Amino acid sequence: MVHKVKGVVAKSKGDPVSIEMIEVPSPGPGEVLIDVKACGVCHTDLHYREGAINDDFPFLLGHEAAGLVEEVGDGVDDLTPGDFVILNWRAVCGNCRSCRRGRPWNCFSTHNATQKMMLDNKELSPALGIGAFAEKTLVAAGQATKVNPAAKPEVAGLIGCGVMAGLGAAMNTGQVSRGDSVAVFGCGGVGDAAIEGSRLAGAHTIIAVDIDPKKLEWAKEFGATHVIDSTKVDPIESIREITDGNGVDVAIEAIGLPITYEQAFYSRDLAGTVVLVGVPNPEMKIELPMIEIFGRGGTLKSSWYGDCLPSRDFPMLIDLYLQGRLELDRFVSETISLDEVEEAFHKMERGEVLRSVVIL
Ligand SMILES: NC(=O)c1ccc[n+]([C@@H]2O[C@H](COP(=O)([O-])OP(=O)(O)OC[C@H]3O[C@@H](n4cnc5c(N)ncnc54)[C@H](O)[C@@H]3O)[C@@H](O)[C@H]2O)c1
Ligand SMILES: [Zn+2]
Ligand SMILES: [Zn+2]
Repeated sequence: MVHKVKGVVAKSKGDPVSIEMIEVPSPGPGEVLIDVKACGVCHTDLHYREGAINDDFPFLLGHEAAGLVEEVGDGVDDLTPGDFVILNWRAVCGNCRSCRRGRPWNCFSTHNATQKMMLDNKELSPALGIGAFAEKTLVAAGQATKVNPAAKPEVAGLIGCGVMAGLGAAMNTGQVSRGDSVAVFGCGGVGDAAIEGSRLAGAHTIIAVDIDPKKLEWAKEFGATHVIDSTKVDPIESIREITDGNGVDVAIEAIGLPITYEQAFYSRDLAGTVVLVGVPNPEMKIELPMIEIFGRGGTLKSSWYGDCLPSRDFPMLIDLYLQGRLELDRFVSETISLDEVEEAFHKMERGEVLRSVVIL
């Protein structure tokens, strides 16, 4: 059976998105049909619309979602209709060279649904293999992670991308721990989640750097102990002043720019860690004196999806949220309807929101 539902589609590069009637097949083996309840607007959706990811238009956007399992395909035995799930873009294969070495969070061959969702006889490319700005979407069973249904969908969905990326950049990739000092460059949804993750992990100094005073105010609410407006002062010097001249143990770049990567690099203490979670574009380059890379020691890392393992991390984070130990409501700047996604992109570009979340 084919389900005809509304979805937000980017038909061609740079053009505004539109609401279309799309066709979503019933699940085949290993697939599940999701009744989407909420989906956050992430910067990556805008990257798709701008053709910055690839040229496989038309895209069915949306990937930061929570919903209910509506139907399961053959061979799916760990999900049943009615289960409350967060969608993920890391359905581990269990078989690639990384999974076989016991590192499923780096899986190099993640699963998506095999059947295609369609628009006017054309195959849709779902954003990050999800496509959840739609009333229903089709994913691989491993992309749906069951969590406690007591969490509101608009909050739970955020764990599916940006918030997980930021929390994980601090907790998993950066291995922030009790007594560490941390600097976070860029205080959007991802950076603020890195601040939140650093606080949860026990960092005693958390320095937020941004160029927008409003973002710095919000960063304080998430737990930043110090804020730096880098349009006014040199962030490297300021971070050194705050840390007795030493620099931070972990510097997290959550923008994806050469200048802020360099700032992060020079802001860390000897033997410290730099984590790049912001996504650069393919033209960007950085130049660093090699002696500084050697002489400072430590680690330069990139964080893909916060090095998360959805089956391990999503239920745990939702439990922390329900216990009041993880602040997620603050990320939801507004709730909107499907036809307001284009406007939400503009609000994101103007820096007015952390997350607009579509409610269905
Ligand atoms: N690694 C991953 O798996 C992953 C997952 C999701 C998102 N991301 C990436 O994380 C990045 C951040 O996402 P977001 O949703 O928080 O974006 P955002 O646009 O909401 O936030 C970016 C922040 O950076 C600030 N900023 C911009 N230029 C700056 C500068 N020169 N110095 C200091 N601050 C500056 C902005 O004011 C804003 O607060 C994006 O590149 C996104 O693609 C990565
Ligand atoms: Zn794998
Ligand atoms: Zn995303």
